[in-house]
Amino acid sequence: MTVKLGVNVDHIATIREARKIREPDPVTAALIAELAGCNGITAHLREDKRHIQDRDIRLLRGTITTKLNLKIAPTNEMLQFAVNVQPDLVTLVPENRQEITTEGGLNVAAKIDELAKFVMTLKSNDIAVSVFIEPETEQVKAAKKIGASFVEFNTGKYATAFDLGSMQEVDREISAIADMTVLAKKYGLRVFAGQGLNYRNVSAIAAIEGIEELNIGHSIVGRSVFVGMEKAVKEMIDILHRS
Ligand code: PXP
Repeated sequence: MTVKLGVNVDHIATIREARKIREPDPVTAALIAELAGCNGITAHLREDKRHIQDRDIRLLRGTITTKLNLKIAPTNEMLQFAVNVQPDLVTLVPENRQEITTEGGLNVAAKIDELAKFVMTLKSNDIAVSVFIEPETEQVKAAKKIGASFVEFNTGKYATAFDLGSMQEVDREISAIADMTVLAKKYGLRVFAGQGLNYRNVSAIAAIEGIEELNIGHSIVGRSVFVGMEKAVKEMIDILHRS
C-alpha cells in the first residue's frame, strides 16, 4: 500500500516570521498542499512560537479538509490549547529551545506516568495521540503503555547518515525502523515516520512495510520556493507512489 503524505507547513511560517507580517500564510500553503493531494497537514506549535502561531492552528482547524496533526511538547499550556482547538491527532514531541529542529525522539520510557495522564486527557477529549520516538524496543513498549494509538519514528538519524554517505549507518537505521514497525504493529499501534526526509532519501523509508504515513516539511517547503507548493507536493507524492 502506498504510504500517505502529511505536509508540515512550519517553514512557510518561518518565512513569514522573518518579517513578522502576514505573508506567506501557512494556511494558504496547507490548502494548496491538500489540493495537490496530500493526506494531512502537520504543524508544530513550539513553546517559543518561532514559526507557527496559535492563530495558524485555529485557522487550519477551521479550513483544511484532510486531517490536522498538531505537534506539541507535553506541557500543560499546550495540552489546554490542544483540547480547545481539537486537532484530529496530537503528536507529542520533545522540545529544547536551543535546537534548530526536533533533535531526537521523546523519551517516553522515562516519563510513563506523566505522559499516560496527558494521553488520557487528550483521548477523553476525542483527540488521538501519537508519540515521536526513536525506533527502539523500550520506546515502542512505553508508547503502548501510555495509551498512544500511533508512533512516529524519528528518521532524522537515517537522513543525516544518508547525507554523509554512511551506508552502514543508513542500513542500520532502515533495519531498526523496519523491525520496530513490526513490533509496534504487533502491539496494535499505527506507524508514521518523519524528520529530515527529502526527495533523494525518502524512497527507502516509504518502502518499509507497515508505515502508514510520512510527515515531511522542510524539503517540500524548500522546493516550493522554486516550483510552487502544488508541484512540490505532487513530486513528493509521485516518489511515494513509485517506492
Ligand atoms: N515529524 C516531527 C515530529 C517533526 O518535529 C518534524 C519537524 O518539525 C517533522 C516530522 C518534519 O521534519 P522535516 O521538516 O525535516 O521534514
